[in-house]
Amino acid sequence: MSYSSAYNIDDLKQLAQRRLPRVAWDYLERGAEDDVTMRANRSGFERIRFMPRTLVDVSGRTLKHELFGKSYTAPFGIAPTGAAGLYCFDADVALAQAASDAGVPFVLSTASFVAMERVAREAEGTKWFQLYMSKDREAAERLVRRAFDAGFEALVVTTDVPVGANREYNLRNGFAIPFRINARNVIDGMLHPRWLAQVFLRTLFTSGVPRFQNVDSNVGGRIIAKDLSAFRARRDALDWSDIAWLRTIWPRKLLVKGILAVADAHLALRHGADGIIVSNHGGRQLDGAVAAIDVLPAIADAVGSRMPVLFDSGVRRGSDIVKALALGADFVFTGRATLYGAAAGGRNGVAHALGLLRAETDRVMALIGCSRVDELSRAYLEMPDSA
Ligand code: FNR
Repeated sequence: MSYSSAYNIDDLKQLAQRRLPRVAWDYLERGAEDDVTMRANRSGFERIRFMPRTLVDVSGRTLKHELFGKSYTAPFGIAPTGAAGLYCFDADVALAQAASDAGVPFVLSTASFVAMERVAREAEGTKWFQLYMSKDREAAERLVRRAFDAGFEALVVTTDVPVGANREYNLRNGFAIPFRINARNVIDGMLHPRWLAQVFLRTLFTSGVPRFQNVDSNVGGRIIAKDLSAFRARRDALDWSDIAWLRTIWPRKLLVKGILAVADAHLALRHGADGIIVSNHGGRQLDGAVAAIDVLPAIADAVGSRMPVLFDSGVRRGSDIVKALALGADFVFTGRATLYGAAAGGRNGVAHALGLLRAETDRVMALIGCSRVDELSRAYLEMPDSA
């Protein structure tokens, strides 16, 4: 089966699983520890029902939607995903180009396998840069300046990573970046020859062992870091004063990603953020954390009139996108859904994933009797009784 015959994101997921060796598949698909939060993200969506209105003329409906004064063809975009280059060749460029073609925003991870300057050059459209930072402000400032010079329109600071997550499957699989070759990977690679040739070896021969290119950078003739260590140093010492500091060095839009508590949404506003992303990192950090969709309504009620509230974690269907928007999200992002597309068919596979989500979102809008994203509200939903 090819990506083009996938009828939904789950079809793309199955294709992705078949194509990828275990080390790459587990890193894409799994959460942290027992995947409790990852499953909660899905069941949170599944518990919410629509309350459709009928006999509404929806023939003039549109998915066009504005965010920070810019118009997009749909109310969703692509979330930052590190090590995406394990899924298709030059994935960071492929994802950015597919987003650009579709007229939706793309967020590049600090942990990309393609340097941010090249992604900026090779993809038009709206691009934001996601920042992993530590207390090493010098290192953070170098990255922020590069993102500014490369023209990224917004900085997305990810805050739910004070320490690395407990991902036991990575230890079991010997997952490491720069990519480490071990006996198990070699055998698994040979069992996935298409991935071996088209992704791994192609990357190896064009840019070397797959590794993080934004931090393994030659600044003034000096290699500043071979891995993320400069950005991991004392990451557990970060606090809100670091957001206030970033505000002083970054004049464009500043977003805080990883908000789950209403109190933190207020703090983000107070420390100068232009927006927040309600997210539990797709269940990949703190296992047992609340489902992002469950806390979205209270956060939107608290700060939604004063700053855009963006959302990710658990989106697999257009209906999920509509539910999040109806609960007060101003924009929705997908992590795994678009990565499945990348693994299944590169740039075209990502385009296919975005097209599926667009068609599903449009169909749900029609079926609930709503023509415009900004007319969505909780009146279109029936919420589960809280336990
Ligand atoms: C991520 N995510 C992530 N977030 C971030 O801020 N920086 C990063 O480098 C990464 N890397 C990353 C890698 C992979 C393989 C995945 C799947 C996710 C989290 C991402 O931005 C987003 O929050 C979640 O993916 C959203 O959940 P869903 O859509 O995957 O359920």
